[in-house]
Amino acid sequence: MIRFDILTVFPEMFASVLGCSLLKKASDRGVIDIRLHDIRSHTEDKHRMTDDAPYGGGGGMVMKVDPIDRTLQSIPRMADDVPVILLTPQGEPFRQRTAEKLALYPQLILLCGHYEGVDERVRTHLVNREISIGDYVLTGGELSAMVVVDAVSRLIPGVLGNSESAGSDSFSMGVLEYPHYTRPAEYRGWKVPEVLLSGNHREIEAWRRKQSLLRTRERRPDLLAEGGLTEKEERWLAEEADEE
Ligand code: ADE
Repeated sequence: MIRFDILTVFPEMFASVLGCSLLKKASDRGVIDIRLHDIRSHTEDKHRMTDDAPYGGGGGMVMKVDPIDRTLQSIPRMADDVPVILLTPQGEPFRQRTAEKLALYPQLILLCGHYEGVDERVRTHLVNREISIGDYVLTGGELSAMVVVDAVSRLIPGVLGNSESAGSDSFSMGVLEYPHYTRPAEYRGWKVPEVLLSGNHREIEAWRRKQSLLRTRERRPDLLAEGGLTEKEERWLAEEADEE
């Protein structure tokens, strides 16, 4: 069970993602608890402003510190060390390992940044982490928060069914996944590799491992550097390189 508290000026953006598939089932079963907090409802001025022009001039708007602070104060903390995370392109890169570590907390507080950015005092006084989901700039942190909620949730026991367990995913193994096939065994002349129909589980496992490594070497050689291959696996890859 994990609780996500999401601070946003666009709570309606979350309905479709959280309202279907595995995340909805997990919410319905109480395995994850997602609370949306509308920052605007914590404004105190008559225009309900969540952003304002930057001191010093320049373009764009800056998210105000006070409504964010009041929203944060309205959220109970389930532990002393709850991560309070600002989603921003300036944050640390979000990886599978990040998701695994975050999944160990009872609660995550996610603040969706917007406009030109947030008042720097949010960074220095209110959040204790900043995360980026990739080297590109989105219109706001909402999609990023959903990415974090999704990647973390599927690691929580009971969110995925047994058959979908997260243990053999790409990245959690340090390599990309092997190719998958299902019926029919042949379609338009496109055949399923013979070994998968053989029933020989040792051979199948070896084939899959080799495919994983070959695919990783081809697409993401950067992952292999830390992959910790056995000698046999190194030889497989070397053989394959000779054949090319
Ligand atoms: N907000 C805008 N772009 C983002 C990114 N790449 N990661 C996290 N939050 C963001």
